[in-house]
Amino acid sequence: SHIKFDDSKVKKFVHDNEVPEMQAMVDAANTELREGTGAGADFRGWINLPTDYNKAEFARIKKAAEKIRKDSDVLVVIGIGGSYLGAKMAIDFLNGSYYNSKPKENRRGVQVVFAGNSLSASYLNELEEFLGDRDFSVNVISKSGTTTEPSIAFRIFKDKLIKKYGKDANQRIYATTDAKRGALRKEADANGYESFIIPDDVGGRYSVLTPVGLLPIAATGADLDQLMQGAADAAKDYVSSDLEKNDAYRYAALRNILYRKGYVTELVENYEPNLRMFSEWWKQLMGESEGKDQKGIYPSSANFTTDLHSLGQYIQEGLRNLFETVVKVQNPPYNVEIPMDKENLDGLNYLKGQSMNEVNDKAYEGVVLAHNDGGVPVMTVEIPDESEYSLGYLIYFFEVAVAISGYLNGINPFNQPGVEAYKKNMFALLGKPGFEELGKKLNKELHE
Ligand code: PA5
Repeated sequence: SHIKFDDSKVKKFVHDNEVPEMQAMVDAANTELREGTGAGADFRGWINLPTDYNKAEFARIKKAAEKIRKDSDVLVVIGIGGSYLGAKMAIDFLNGSYYNSKPKENRRGVQVVFAGNSLSASYLNELEEFLGDRDFSVNVISKSGTTTEPSIAFRIFKDKLIKKYGKDANQRIYATTDAKRGALRKEADANGYESFIIPDDVGGRYSVLTPVGLLPIAATGADLDQLMQGAADAAKDYVSSDLEKNDAYRYAALRNILYRKGYVTELVENYEPNLRMFSEWWKQLMGESEGKDQKGIYPSSANFTTDLHSLGQYIQEGLRNLFETVVKVQNPPYNVEIPMDKENLDGLNYLKGQSMNEVNDKAYEGVVLAHNDGGVPVMTVEIPDESEYSLGYLIYFFEVAVAISGYLNGINPFNQPGVEAYKKNMFALLGKPGFEELGKKLNKELHE
């Protein structure tokens, strides 16, 4: 396996026989997943996606990215939830925290900014200021084609494009949406936007390796073939149901064992700031998949060593219902040597000649032991580097793990009925046609 999975620091909390005892349940979950006998079977398109994707469309994505790199300085990516987090986390992971601030010659592609992931007018205003009068294109992404946040942002940026480019505006709009359904599909067809398809059988949080993630990622010049190859190899490596051979399944089984013991919150953690958004992507994947039927592990995150100076106190000594999953990079792309200082007024000369990465590794080791002593089970998922290949592999690891984990916990890991409730209320309060009755009821409740 390309990932090193370390569960030695859960041993204190999980008896030797507990993992093998889960094997029969994991076998059953595996059958549900692979044979489509489980709930949500229509949304398993992500399983074979890394090899069974639409090759012609894939080539078209690369071409579109090339065109964007030629005629634009900035790509505005409009989307929310599953239509936002995958692209954002991949771009940050592959390009680092300061990608957009780098001079053009130090970037492989265009700057990429995101809109439509909140309802903040101030944010949009800042984004418009950032754009200034530079050339830009828009990639609007929505599976349903009707989500309020991206729809509003798209209206605003479409207007800006038309004012700037007139009838050529349509050549700067790329729509990623359903093949047939939804308002965005209708609009894309009517206006002749170049469009890409979100497969019916892939839900939002599993869609990073569809055009949803691929076009924005390609616009930064990343290698899509390597990204898909990493995921394809993970798909092959994580196919066995045997907990001794399949670390993604083992991770799922251990989560389930811990959950039943009362460890109901999982923190995903990193030691590299370019993985912050990875945690946000992971939280959606885990939370939307598992948090239903009044149960599920609550997915949370912490960024280290930053949060060792804040949440670290809670993790060490607070309520003992936490476990941690560290996503660790064995060889980060850069290293810095700590210099010698003759005066040594800061007392740091004991570190002279050591590298930052070594110090970071010692922090990790120290933290794992301290948290373990404090009663926190810790698992580590280690990737060798920050390549496209490793990212593809890592994405698949967690996708297949949460599917098994969900079935182990007796829920449908592929639906998200709970994200609808607020939408109905918001529509009713905004006076959207069709929601009049609910609007009356809610307004009464609000003003009681
Ligand atoms: O996972 C999900 O289903 C959600 O987070 C959606 O991705 C999000 O609501 C955006 O939906 P859409 O792509 O239809 O605009």
